[in-house]
Amino acid sequence: MSAFLPFTRPQIDEATIAGVGEVLRSGWITAGPQVKAFEAELSRLCAGRAVRSFCSGTAALEVALRLAGVGEGDEVITTPLSWVATANVILEVGARPVFVDVDPATRNIDLDLVEKAVNPKTRALLPVDLAGLPVDRDRLYSISTRNKLRVIEDAAQSFGASWRGKPVGSFGDLVAFSFHANKNITTAEGGALVLPDPDMVSSCEKLRLQGVVRSGEDGMEVDVLGGKWNLTDIAARIGLGQLPHLQAFTERRRALAKRYFERWDAGGELPPRDFENSNWHMFQVVLPERAERGRFIAAMRDQGIGVGVHYPAMHLFALYRQLGWRAGQFPHAERVGRSIVTLPLFPAMSDDDVARVCAAAAKALA
Ligand SMILES: Cc1ncc(COP(=O)(O)O)c(C=O)c1O
Repeated sequence: MSAFLPFTRPQIDEATIAGVGEVLRSGWITAGPQVKAFEAELSRLCAGRAVRSFCSGTAALEVALRLAGVGEGDEVITTPLSWVATANVILEVGARPVFVDVDPATRNIDLDLVEKAVNPKTRALLPVDLAGLPVDRDRLYSISTRNKLRVIEDAAQSFGASWRGKPVGSFGDLVAFSFHANKNITTAEGGALVLPDPDMVSSCEKLRLQGVVRSGEDGMEVDVLGGKWNLTDIAARIGLGQLPHLQAFTERRRALAKRYFERWDAGGELPPRDFENSNWHMFQVVLPERAERGRFIAAMRDQGIGVGVHYPAMHLFALYRQLGWRAGQFPHAERVGRSIVTLPLFPAMSDDDVARVCAAAAKALA
């Protein structure tokens, strides 16, 4: 049998591995020159906007909420179909997540429902580009502008995606990326926040590192509570070695996604065929209602293929049920969250690998 095919795998080149060795030997391994260089490269990819790196996408999101002034008593409208970090950060800053259902075609937040959910307590919108498919930015920003709301784009999965030809992160309000190992570009763990205004840089840096501001040779002051969320130079060096591959990785992902559309005949619901905007972070299929997902995953594993689950609807987690959310409130997110699977998709995969996944899935669902 062929080697096990995981649902994703990072691709790190030899020059990057050697570069990490150099950082380790340099005598400076935490945030330093590599972090500065990585942030400068990210800024270049985001139309020159200010970008600061973090130890995770979660940290970037939490700082974004704090910078937007979201706190106690505020509500933030978001999707129930995401990695739970999306809603957890809202709780972390003392605010309340207000979920609205997803559009079953895109699996992203339903913007019609967002508009209806806005009330005087709403402070911000926190949409997610699930699988790298961008939420409609024109409609999103027309809703936020009309209602005077801040936007925190959870673009954890959409680094390298674009909207009408403009890279995600190059426009809009606060934009948070993740560089977790599974993402299209990785630093092993890490994240970044794009700031809409360069004046926010100093507050952002304070919140990232214990609220500390240094001055002169020995001055130190703290006037705000910050976290410990900086990236290391080791991680930043990985990121610097990844960025030159961004375009090729995205193109390869798109080609593999096209191949899935040509080959897939196992039923279920395929994602939207978006070859303009999406970075194809994941290729996800909603299994037919009759299929039992656990059995499908096991049957695929038996055929040497890894399948992921991204994600169960998070309002049904015990933590969120304790806050009053319950089954039946968001039927689309609940159905998709019960039956969605992530198929293998990463740049080093071959076209034959896609054919192998499709044949295995047809067998598993027969
Ligand atoms: C949609 C979404 N939001 C937030 C995060 C959090 O990013 P990180 O794992 O880097 O903290 C992730 C990462 O998986 C994600 O997919």
